Amino acid sequence: MYKIVEKEILSEVTKRIVVEAPQVARKAQAGQFVIIRIDERGERIPLTIADYERDAGLVTLIFQEVGKTTRQLGTLEPGDALATVVGPLGHPSEIENYGTVVCVGGGVGIAPVFPIARALKEAGNHVISIIGARNKDLLFWEDRMRAVSDELIVCTDDGSYGRKALVTEPLKELLEERAGEIARVWAIGPAIMMKFVSLTTHPFNVPTIVSLNSIMVDGTGMCGCCRVLVNGEARFVCVDGPEFEGHEVDWDNLLSRLQFYREEEQLALERWEHECRLDAALQEKGGA
Ligand code: FES
Repeated sequence: MYKIVEKEILSEVTKRIVVEAPQVARKAQAGQFVIIRIDERGERIPLTIADYERDAGLVTLIFQEVGKTTRQLGTLEPGDALATVVGPLGHPSEIENYGTVVCVGGGVGIAPVFPIARALKEAGNHVISIIGARNKDLLFWEDRMRAVSDELIVCTDDGSYGRKALVTEPLKELLEERAGEIARVWAIGPAIMMKFVSLTTHPFNVPTIVSLNSIMVDGTGMCGCCRVLVNGEARFVCVDGPEFEGHEVDWDNLLSRLQFYREEEQLALERWEHECRLDAALQEKGGA
């Protein structure tokens, strides 16, 4: 069992947990992920490693409550435990001194882009970070991102904090104003955001690394669930990724695969919410 030692509410729907997982913490590197299960019969979900403390044997995971499993995960408290934390999985980010790089984090994607920005900064890069969310309440880790960035641009879609813009707007301006200076872009966030970041950088011919968030089951390349098309070839996010060159990803294929189980996910969420209501009613009755 993997004990939760810390929990923080970052926004209405975004939570941070720190989990005891010494074997994962010992080997984790920026860009990698774990697959967790809440209990023995639970769904397996991939979560990117947002931070790690090797000596303490701790890993930090950040998740957005979007479906049944992430909602259930959000109800756990310090002292509770996860049944499995498998990892670190996937290839680490390729960190080198490229010169000037841009790290883009959208929504919950701010969490996984943080260790990459930190590693790039430690490798000697001039790091420009752009973080964005739909509104101020969904933003988090501005201070952490500022600490590992030479320049930081903060945006919200509705203008409730920072600049009123999508992350692609300041990115395009940077590419226009500093043509030839920006060597590489990293982008992590919703698939649609990564698609548009890739479309923005494509005319400038700047390599753009995205971390794909496809549906996963086994995480070992056996089930085929996380298959994506890259450069016209089938690749598995769990073993070949999670990072790919964004200009080579078939985004429409990925976006449609992400919708495959929408109905089942909705049903599972409704069933879980129903069970929670029943439990609450029984407890109330028992206490009366
Ligand atoms: S999760 Fe099964 S092949 Fe990648």
